[in-house]
Amino acid sequence: MKTQQVTLKRRPIGKIREGDLQLSQVELDTLTSTQVRVEQNLMSLDPTMFTWLGKNPDNYFPPVPIDSLIPSHGIATVVESNVNTMPVGTRVAGMFGWVSHSNQEPAGLTSIPEQVSDEAALTRYSLPAITAWFGLKQLSETNTGDFLVVNAAGGAVGSMVGQIAKLKGLQVIGITGNSTKKEWLMEQCNFDYVINYRTENLQQALEQYCKNGIDIYFDNVGGSTTDCVGKLMAPHSQIILCGLIADYLKDPDDSTLSKLPLLNMLNKRIQLHSFIMMDHLQQFPELLDELNQFVGVHELHANTHIIEGLAHAPLALNHFIDGSNRGKLCVKLTN
Ligand SMILES: NC(=O)c1ccc[n+]([C@@H]2O[C@H](COP(=O)([O-])OP(=O)(O)OC[C@H]3O[C@@H](n4cnc5c(N)ncnc54)[C@H](OP(=O)(O)O)[C@@H]3O)[C@@H](O)[C@H]2O)c1
Repeated sequence: MKTQQVTLKRRPIGKIREGDLQLSQVELDTLTSTQVRVEQNLMSLDPTMFTWLGKNPDNYFPPVPIDSLIPSHGIATVVESNVNTMPVGTRVAGMFGWVSHSNQEPAGLTSIPEQVSDEAALTRYSLPAITAWFGLKQLSETNTGDFLVVNAAGGAVGSMVGQIAKLKGLQVIGITGNSTKKEWLMEQCNFDYVINYRTENLQQALEQYCKNGIDIYFDNVGGSTTDCVGKLMAPHSQIILCGLIADYLKDPDDSTLSKLPLLNMLNKRIQLHSFIMMDHLQQFPELLDELNQFVGVHELHANTHIIEGLAHAPLALNHFIDGSNRGKLCVKLTN
C-alpha cells in the first residue's frame, strides 16, 4: 500500500516557498505483528514547525534533516490492526508526521473518546488548551482583577489563555492584528478588551486600560509587541514566555531577535516564566483533567481553520506569519 508524505527538500529562507517541501508517494512496509496501520484524518500545523525546518542547532527540537518526513501531531483512524486493544475503526491521536497512512506501535497512540470530534481533539483537548493551562499555572500569586495581556489572542493558544484567565477572575486584554478575530474574542470569548495592533496605537490603548501597569503578560509573539508591553509592566508583575513567532523566520544570529527589557525587569522585580510543552508530554492527561475540573460546565470556544489536502499544507504554514489563520490551523486528509 502507498502513503502520501511531505519531506523537507530545502531549508526555507523566510516564508515557505514552492519547492522547500515535497509531496511524494512511497510504499509502506509490511505491518508487523505488534502494529496497527492508521489513516490520518486531521493533522495539526503549528508555528513552531518553522523552527524545526530551520537550521538552529540550539533549538529545543533538533532541525529536521533534509529529505526527512516533517513531524506533526494528528488524529487518525485504525484501518488495519494486529493489536487486540486497537481494532479497526479506533480513533487515535499521535505523532504521525505529514503522512496520509503509517504503521504505528500502540505505545505512541492515545484513543479518542467517541464524543470528542477530531477538531476538538486538536484544540480544546490538546496542545493549545494544555499550553494555556500549563502557562497560567506557572504564575505565582495573582489577585482578582489583575490585568493580563495576551498577544496572538485570536489564535489557538491565545484564545484559550484569555478564556481561562477570565474564569480565574483576571481582567483580560487581547492583542491581535485582525478585526474579525477581535470581534470573536470580545463577543464569544468574553475578553474585556482587544486591541488591533494594525489599526490602534498599542501603547496608548494599553495605558488607557491598564492604568496601574500590566500585571501579567502572556507572550506568544515577542518582537515589537514585547518592546511595547515590556515598558508598561507593573512592579512585581509576571511574564509568561510561551512563544516568539516574530522570531521564527530569523537566523539564530540575527541582531533583531526579540529582547527582554532587563533593566525594567530588575527595577520592577518582574518574574519570568518560560516553558516548552514537549518537556511535559507525560503530564498531558493530568493537565487536561485539571483543566476540565477547573472549567467545569463552562464552554471554551475554539476556532479551527481547515486546509483541504496534504498538498496544500506547505504553503498553509505561512498563514501563521501573516496572521491569516482563523484559529487552530489543521489539514484535513480524509473526507
Ligand atoms: N511553549 C510551548 O510549548 C508552546 C506550545 C504551543 C504554542 N506555542 C507558541 O504559542 C504561539 C501561538 O501558537 P498558536 O498555535 O496558537 O498560533 P496562532 O496564534 O493560532 O497563530 C499565530 C498568530 O501569531 C500572530 N503573529 C504572527 N506574527 C506576528 C508578529 N510578527 N507580530 C504580532 N503577531 C504576530 C498572528 O495573529 P494576528 O492576526 O493576531 O497578528 C498569527 O495568526 C506561537 O508562538 C507558538 O510557537 C508555544
